[in-house]
Order: sequence, then structure tokens, then C-alpha cells
Amino acid sequence: MTDAPAELIERLKAHNQSHVLTGWNALGTAQRASFAAQLSAIDFRELEQHFAQAKKPVEPPQSGHVAPLPVAPAVASPHERALGEEALRRGEVAGLIVAGGQGSRLGFEKPKGMYPVGPVSGATLFQVHAEKILAVSRRYGKPVPFLVMTSPATDVETRAYFRDNLFFGLAESDVIFFEQGTMPAVCSRTGRLLLEAPGKLALSPNGHGGTITALAERGVLRELQRRGVKHVYYFQVDNPLLKICDAGFVGQHVAARSEASSKVVFKERPEEKVGVFALIDGKCGMIEYSDLPKELAGVRDADGQLTYRAGNPAIHLFTVEFLDRITSTGGLAYHVARKAVPHFDPEAGKPIDPAGELNGLKFERFIFDALPLAERWLAVETSRAEEFAPLKNATGADSPATVRDAQIALHSGWLSAAGVPTHKHPIEISPLFALDADELKRKLPGGFRVTGPTYLE
Ligand code: UTP
Repeated sequence: MTDAPAELIERLKAHNQSHVLTGWNALGTAQRASFAAQLSAIDFRELEQHFAQAKKPVEPPQSGHVAPLPVAPAVASPHERALGEEALRRGEVAGLIVAGGQGSRLGFEKPKGMYPVGPVSGATLFQVHAEKILAVSRRYGKPVPFLVMTSPATDVETRAYFRDNLFFGLAESDVIFFEQGTMPAVCSRTGRLLLEAPGKLALSPNGHGGTITALAERGVLRELQRRGVKHVYYFQVDNPLLKICDAGFVGQHVAARSEASSKVVFKERPEEKVGVFALIDGKCGMIEYSDLPKELAGVRDADGQLTYRAGNPAIHLFTVEFLDRITSTGGLAYHVARKAVPHFDPEAGKPIDPAGELNGLKFERFIFDALPLAERWLAVETSRAEEFAPLKNATGADSPATVRDAQIALHSGWLSAAGVPTHKHPIEISPLFALDADELKRKLPGGFRVTGPTYLE
């Protein structure tokens, strides 16, 4: 017999989740209160729907409904660039970093943003991104609000890290932290809730797409509207290479009156594991690597390029109006992922190690599901070498070594373009020294030479 509140017992019974109350009587007062709060936050109907959906096979888009997405060239026209610069000078652009992920593949014990990626300086991902935001603010003479999405897994450490580092030179009031929502993990066979420990649900962040609802629910959209911000530049914590709020892209987005604009890196091989943009039923959409029908993945244009080559580096620019509109219609759909979830079995009274078995289901929203909701959209080409080097794994592809090499290659290229040979020494350029090759060329002192590992700051 449990002495949990009667209402809670009834609610859990009605949804076949009573197992979580086994062991309730052994919980302390504070544990009971927090557990009851976790349970009351769950919409069980919705959870049941997600579980039912997980059993159905995902329908990949049918070839008849799919066409390649037109992609604009990388270089903005002078008029577009001027529009972007004006928007930045008026303070109409904010940067949004999503940093709520658990970084399980990298296996780093802190939030991924605290990983040191600077090839010479050892600067962390957060430092590199914050310095870019600061450099853009200085260039255009207006603060760029920096929105930092965390999750329960990363929030406390992330905030403390920024505070300890004096917000990397940004005004504290311009760094706006907000926490994303979570979803409970369930057993993949039964749909029953999994516990992380006695009296504690196994919760995980609800995906990068959770940012849109979180922006609204945490009052950030309202704050942006109060500040006169019209565009939100979305990027992910793991990519130190990307440009942030670059005037060319902002201007192309403004000129096209786009609601959702995305950068694109071209795929060269059909088997590259990157999602591709496509027109799906006439709307801009994303097809995940594993869902792209084989007959489409390998098709090539007359010039030999892959027809479906518009790869997704996860860099988007949304209007605040668009974000506001989609939150008022309930947010994005959930995707299901099968994962090995270590948990505590309350009935057996012991922890369970799944030993690699995909015993659990997790539910996540994906940011690119926002794209088909846009009335007007834009895709703009960029190059992998200039903008895409994500840190995902501890070794191999997309690992610290590849991310380091990509930064050195980019920055060495800027120096070479300025006429300075690097003699293969590691080179790193702080965003506060130069944001691009042109700025570097202007700022380099005359007669500058590279004689060893070099960090320009
Ligand atoms: P990934 O999907 O690569 O996940 O996130 P991850 O957490 O970094 O790594 P794994 O899969 O556990 O190894 C891409 C971006 O989306 C953010 C991440 O922080 C990263 O910037 N993200 C992901 C969130 O902000 N919240 C989430 O719930 C999931």
C-alpha cells in the first residue's frame, strides 16, 4: 500500500504507470514533493500518442512529392550586404546558441560548450562563439543579444562558466540564458516511465527544436520584441567554424523577406551522413540522411553534381514574427529515438544496465521541422571549409582532431590570402582580432611573419 496522494494514484493507474509509486513510502518529504511535481507535469495522453507513433514505421517522403531546393549563391550583392549591415546597426539581430544537448557521443563530463577547441589558445566553444558575438557588436556599434539555451543537464554549469569568465566581455544584460523543456524516457516495449533513481524520472532535453517553445514560454520572445529585435540567428554549440550574424546572409534573408533562411553545404558523395534540404510538397523541408530514398540520394545533374546535395549545417535565421506565430500553434512535432537508457527498476528495487540494448524511447523536437511552416524561405550556399566543423565524437570523424585541423586550415588560408606564409605552423585567429580574411588583412601589422604556433588576439 502506498501513501501517495489519492489523486496521483488514480491518475497513474488510469495510464498504466502505477509502477513508479513502488517505493514511494521510503522517499523523504522533499523527494516526494519533487517526484509528485515531475509526475504532475506529464501529459500522459500526449505521451501515449508518442508511444503509439513510435510503433509505426516512419514514412519517408515519396519521390513524387520531392524536388531539389533552389539554393542562392554564397556571395551577397552589395545591396543585400547593405541591408544586412543596416539591420545589425539598428540592433535588429540576436544570436541564439542551442547548448542543452547531453553530448553523449563526445563523452566530455562538462557542457559541450566548455570543451577547449582553440588549436593554439585552448579557447572553449563558448568563448569562440561569445567573442564572435562581441566582435559583431563592436563592428556595427550595437549590442547583439546572445540567447543561450541550456537544459537541466547543462544550465547551472553554463551560467557559472559565463559568470566566472565575465561573460567574455559582453554586457551581462545582453546574455540571456533560458532553459529548454524535458521529456520523460519510456520503456520501448511497454511505454512505461523509466526512473533515473528512486523518486526521480529519467528525463532528457526535448531536442534542439524545443528552443522555439522555450523562447516563448521563458519570455525571451517578448524580451526580443521589447528590444526591437526582428531576426534570430540560430546555431549549435558544437561548430566553432561558423560565421555568426554575418551581414551578407542577414541581408539576403532581409531582401528575400524570408521568414526562415538556412545555410547549405553541398554534399559530394551520396553516402555522406548529413540531412538534405528539399522541396517537399512545394515547401522547404529537410530529409534526414537515413530517410532519403536511395533512388534520390545518388541522382546527379547534367554537370555531375548530386541533385540532392543541399546538406544541412544547422545554421538558420528566423524572423521573430515567424517564431512567435509557430509557438502560438503548439510548437513542433516530436520524433522518437531508440536509446540504451540505464535506469532504476522500482519493482525489482535495483538499477538496470541495458548493456547496449535499446531499451528506451526518448522524444525530441528538431529545429528543421520549423522550415515547412514558413511562408517564405531562403537557402544560401556556404562552404564546409569556411563554416562547418562540428564536434560530435571523441575520435574519428567530427572529433577534436578534425575540428582543430579545420580551424587551422581556415585561419592559415586567411593569412596566406594576406600574403603571409604559415610554414605549416598551427594558426588561430581570435574573432576579436578578425572575423574574416578581409579584416585580418587590414589589421595585420606590416612585415608580420609566422615563426611558430600563432594566436592572433
Ligand atoms: P546533437 O544532436 O549533436 O546532440 O545536438 P548532442 O547533445 O550535442 O550530442 P549527442 O547526440 O548526445 O552525442 C546538436 C545541437 O543541438 C543542441 C546541442 O547542444 C547541440 O548544440 N541540443 C540538442 C539542444 O540544445 N537540446 C537538445 O535537447 C538536443
